[in-house]
Amino acid sequence: MSIQSEHHQDEEKLAAAKAAVALVNDHDVVGLGTGSTATFAIQELAARVKNGLQIKGVASSVKTATLAISLGIEMLELGTVSHIDISIDGADEFTEDLTLIKGGGGALFREKIVASLSKNSIIITDASKKVTKLGAFKVPVEVVPIAYQYVVTQIEKLNGLTKLRLNGAETYLTDNHNYIVDVDFGLINEPGKLSVDLNQIDGVFAHGLFVNLTAQIIMAKEGSLIKFTKPK
Ligand code: 5RP
Repeated sequence: MSIQSEHHQDEEKLAAAKAAVALVNDHDVVGLGTGSTATFAIQELAARVKNGLQIKGVASSVKTATLAISLGIEMLELGTVSHIDISIDGADEFTEDLTLIKGGGGALFREKIVASLSKNSIIITDASKKVTKLGAFKVPVEVVPIAYQYVVTQIEKLNGLTKLRLNGAETYLTDNHNYIVDVDFGLINEPGKLSVDLNQIDGVFAHGLFVNLTAQIIMAKEGSLIKFTKPK
């Protein structure tokens, strides 16, 4: 990607982040996503906190927790929280019906818990993330290490091509000390069915298909904001 288009994408990410952070109210418990787009939101939220907004954050990754604390946001432990008022996170791909692929940054499990706890789960994106069918981005699947070979075999039965995620020469490890396999299913016709099929494999800790977990997507595109919401 050229520096110019990266800059353009960052402008869109920031615009979407500002719009989402404007929806946060005093005393909200706020779920904080992971990734470059979520980082813009965390920075915007921290600026509002400095100006007097009183909220508590809940992080979807160790990296996000570290960032939020460094910016002065008071944090709650995810495992102690039973309700989140609003959450703000990015996505790797989405379709207009609010179905997502997430987990490019490896935080899919905690992101899913945050979204599931959230009354108002908001996804913020630049225009590059919108697709008509999911699947160009490979579906991250978090796998308990001891079950790795078994899970790969089961995913192959679902016609997925698996690739173990690496971190340099080492196997990538999530915050939960699990592996990630990035799976090419081709374009996905039935994300809901695939989500159920993956959930049924013993050893799959979480997968990056987010179905029925999103209340609203705010996408910034060339200076305007486009909102996708759940049909009533
Ligand atoms: C991390 C995620 C991110 O939300 C996703 O990868 C998008 O990241 P970015 O905003 O950097 O494009 O799911 O696990």
